[in-house]
Amino acid sequence: MKYFIANWKSHKTIAEGKQWLTTFQDLLKNDTQILTNLRENKISIIVCPPFYLLSSLKEMLAEYPNFSLGSQNISPFPEGSYTGEIAARLIKDVVKFTIIGHSERRKYFHENDAMIGLKTEVAFNEGITPILCIRSEHDQIPADVKLIAYEPVEAIGTGKNATVEEVLEMKKKLTLEEGTTFIYGGSVDGENSRHYVETDGIDGLLIGTASLEPSKFFSIISTYK
Ligand code: PGA
Repeated sequence: MKYFIANWKSHKTIAEGKQWLTTFQDLLKNDTQILTNLRENKISIIVCPPFYLLSSLKEMLAEYPNFSLGSQNISPFPEGSYTGEIAARLIKDVVKFTIIGHSERRKYFHENDAMIGLKTEVAFNEGITPILCIRSEHDQIPADVKLIAYEPVEAIGTGKNATVEEVLEMKKKLTLEEGTTFIYGGSVDGENSRHYVETDGIDGLLIGTASLEPSKFFSIISTYK
């Protein structure tokens, strides 16, 4: 299974997000190859919009297998008096996944391994699958996490994507548990995605900038044959 995860970060109004999904689903419904890949569990598409868009996108989401929503973050606390936080239970009906520990969260919101561990726990408690982002082998991987995105900081939003060899090198250093899904993120676009997608051992892509345009994100998914 190859994962294609769109991380919209702090982009898109409600109208823009809905327009994105309309356009994307129009492309999807006419592409028999991608539809077959979804149905045969060969690919998984996950769209991670800002929180306020989740429920309206969920309502619009056509019923495709392996096409789901994720959040970009989750509260480290259960439901309760935590102003401004979104607890896992509050969104578990709309998301299957949540990104945890993105390097932008670590940098701008001072998330550390302890907090990331708590977030992972609350996600598991509510049946949400964490997509754990790590920057290098120095970031901890909490127990039971089976979906890991390697995102070297210098590759994010810079156009300087890591090579396939560098990604596989990092994977070797991590000594991952059996059955772990290992994906790459950082300046992936429709030009370079093919190299990762065709490589055994790289199980998918986390895409920021190029996911903001539905046609660009779609062209990346199309590189999987
Ligand atoms: P990018 O972002 O594709 O714009 O480099 C990736 C990410 O931060 O998840």
